[in-house]
Order: sequence, then C-alpha cells, then structure tokens
Amino acid sequence: MQQLSVDLGDRSYPITIGAGLLDQAASFTPHIVGKQVCVVTDDTVAPLYLERLRETLVGYRVETVVLPTGEAFKNWLTLQQIFDALLAGRHDRRTTLIALGGGVIGDMTGFAAACYQRGVNFIQVPTTLLSQVDSSVGGKTGINHPAGKNMIGAFYQPQAVVIDTDTLQTLPRREVSAGLAEIIKYGLIRDTDFLLWLEQQMPALLELDAQTVTEAIARSCQIKAAVVAEDEREGGVRAILNLGHTFGHAIEAHQGYGQWLHGEAVGAGMVMALQMSARQRWISDADAERCISLIAAAGLPTAPPPTMQEDDFMRLMAVDKKVLDGQLRLVLLKQLGHAVVTADYDVTALRATLG
Ligand code: NAD
Ligand code: GLY
Repeated sequence: MQQLSVDLGDRSYPITIGAGLLDQAASFTPHIVGKQVCVVTDDTVAPLYLERLRETLVGYRVETVVLPTGEAFKNWLTLQQIFDALLAGRHDRRTTLIALGGGVIGDMTGFAAACYQRGVNFIQVPTTLLSQVDSSVGGKTGINHPAGKNMIGAFYQPQAVVIDTDTLQTLPRREVSAGLAEIIKYGLIRDTDFLLWLEQQMPALLELDAQTVTEAIARSCQIKAAVVAEDEREGGVRAILNLGHTFGHAIEAHQGYGQWLHGEAVGAGMVMALQMSARQRWISDADAERCISLIAAAGLPTAPPPTMQEDDFMRLMAVDKKVLDGQLRLVLLKQLGHAVVTADYDVTALRATLG
C-alpha cells in the first residue's frame, strides 16, 4: 500500500493506493463524519463492486444511487437523480457521498457534493485507470453542456482518494489505453525520466502487471498532486495538465460525447500538441515522433477523426476554458518534460496542425 498527500492546507487529503482497499473499512471510516453515506455509481460498476463496498460500510446508513453509464449522461438530468436520492433519504449536512466508478461518476458526484446543502463531504473511489491517475485527484468536478465539455462545475476537494488497484482487472482494454493517455501526459509535461520508464514498461502496463501499474499510478498522482498544490484553481500552471485536451475536448464534442473515449481524444490531442510544438521548433521532429510512437504503443489514436475539418476545431475550441479575452491559449511543449500555456504561437502552425 502507498500513501500520498495532496497538500492544500486545511483542505489537504490522502491518496491511498493498494490492492483490496475496497474491502477494508479502515480505507473509509476515518473520512466519514456522520452515520449517513450515499454511494454513487453507474450501472456497469454497480454489479461489479457496489455490494462489496456496502459490506465494507457496515454500521452506516448507506444509500445507493446507480446512474446510467457513460459520458453521454454527464449532464444536469442525471445529476438531479443524486439530489433526488439525497433528499428522499433525508441526508443532512454531515452525510458523505462516495463516488464509486470512473471519471464521469467522480466528476458528477463531486459536483453534487459541492452543491448539496452548499457542500458536503465526499470520497473518491476511482475504478478506471484514467480516474485513478487523474480525475479523482485535484478537485475538478462538473458536468458537460452540449456546447462544451465540463463547462458547468466547481473546484471542490474530496476528503480522500481510495484507489483499489484490483478493480482494474475488470476494465476493458480500450479503457486501459484511455488511462495510459493521461499517464503519458505527466511524462510529457513534467518528467522525462518517467517518459523513458513508460517507453520501457508499456508492454507490462498493457498487461496490467500489478507492480508496474501501481508504480505508474503513484508517479502520476505525485505529479498531479504537486501541480494542484502549486495552483489549485488553475490561475496559471495547472493548465499544463490539459496538454492535448483543447484539441481532445473539441474531438469529443464533435463526435458526440461517449463516441471517442476521453483518453482517446486526449491521445490524439497530445499528438496534435506534439506536432505543433515541433512546427514551432520548440521540440525536434525526432522527439515528437518518438512520443507519438509511445502514444500509438499505448493503443491510442494518433490522428483526429477524418471527418473533422479545421473550421470544426476552431468553432469548438473557441469555448475552451483556456480562452482569455477572446484569445485561445494552448498547452504546448517548450521541450520534452516542460509544458507551457501560451497564446504566443504561430497561427499558420496551428492551421497546419488542424488541417
Ligand atoms: P467513465 O467514467 O465513463 O468510465 C469508463 C467506462 O468504464 C464506463 O463504462 C464505466 O462504467 C466503466 N468502468 C469503470 N470502472 C470499471 C471497472 N473497474 N471495470 C469495468 N468497467 C469499469 O470514464 P473515465 O475514462 O473513467 O473518465 C472520463 C471522465 O473523466 C470524462 O468525463 C472526463 O472529462 C473526466 N476527467 C476529469 C478530470 C478531472 O480532473 N476532474 C480529469 C480527467 C478526466
Ligand atoms: N485534468 C486537468 C486538471 O485536473 O486540472
């Protein structure tokens, strides 16, 4: 078992990583203040893990909310189901919400916790690789709007993140690759040693070798926790965690939420960011190609959908949260392991990347 910390003063919290944590009451009890708990999950994860968590939470009054699975349901209507259940079950301000599932469940449950009675406690129990290395850490919560991804939400930190690595055994391969996209992202933005390690360990990661995956999760969470501790509300450096996401969010919105997995869109988006960084002459073509090969080796797409045109990207990227005063800022690489958020790029390089 490994324990890390997200250091945010009185909002600091632990990230615990290990096998079988779902069955250990000690993973949860220190982070639950009252007697009421509401576990939110989806109808794919529920048959796999909900009963086990219920058994672990013996002694608490446990409500469960099972939402429909998928990105297409990350919206107001589905969110309302959580509030309906909390009110029907007369949950008070000492209740604790538990997000059991992937990033969709984590983001929605966190947002529900931020809003219910103006804020109640919640615990993240991420069960996809992507949510274990990214979405469960850092307190970004929210839902999609048809016009833009994650456009409605709040910064709201959990009491704890409990990562049971055993849950990955039931994860479809496509979802494993999606998680690897965010893991590769950390190497690209902050840690070239990690990037080299990922090149060597990719076969073991794809096989979900327990020790290798645990190490990748821990290293990813460490990098994310450090960036979040520097800039919790994304006034500056935190935006580097969005490498590939401006292009990726446009792909997700264009294709219809849920058609491309978030991690797949980030994979193709990172390729575009690498190509653009190379066009800027900030990284070499050889370095860009090497990283694109790593993204391909993780089983991720390396190009946007052929149906997407430059105009589609420009229209969809105009609502990106990094747009300031009408100017689109992009996360690009000044060198491998060093990402910047910048509006100072060549527009012809952007157009060549999109076209
Ligand atoms: P997801 O929540 O849709 O989960 C992917 C699929 O895996 C779903 O079908 C789910 O039911 C299933 N699943 C979950 N755990 C499983 C398990 N152990 N075994 C079998 N199936 C399982 O998607 P995701 O990739 O986890 O998360 C993507 C979401 O996270 C997006 O909405 C994205 O915007 C968000 N996100 C948020 C942040 C953040 O900082 N808050 C960061 C990155 C991504
Ligand atoms: N996934 C981007 C962030 O947490 O800031």
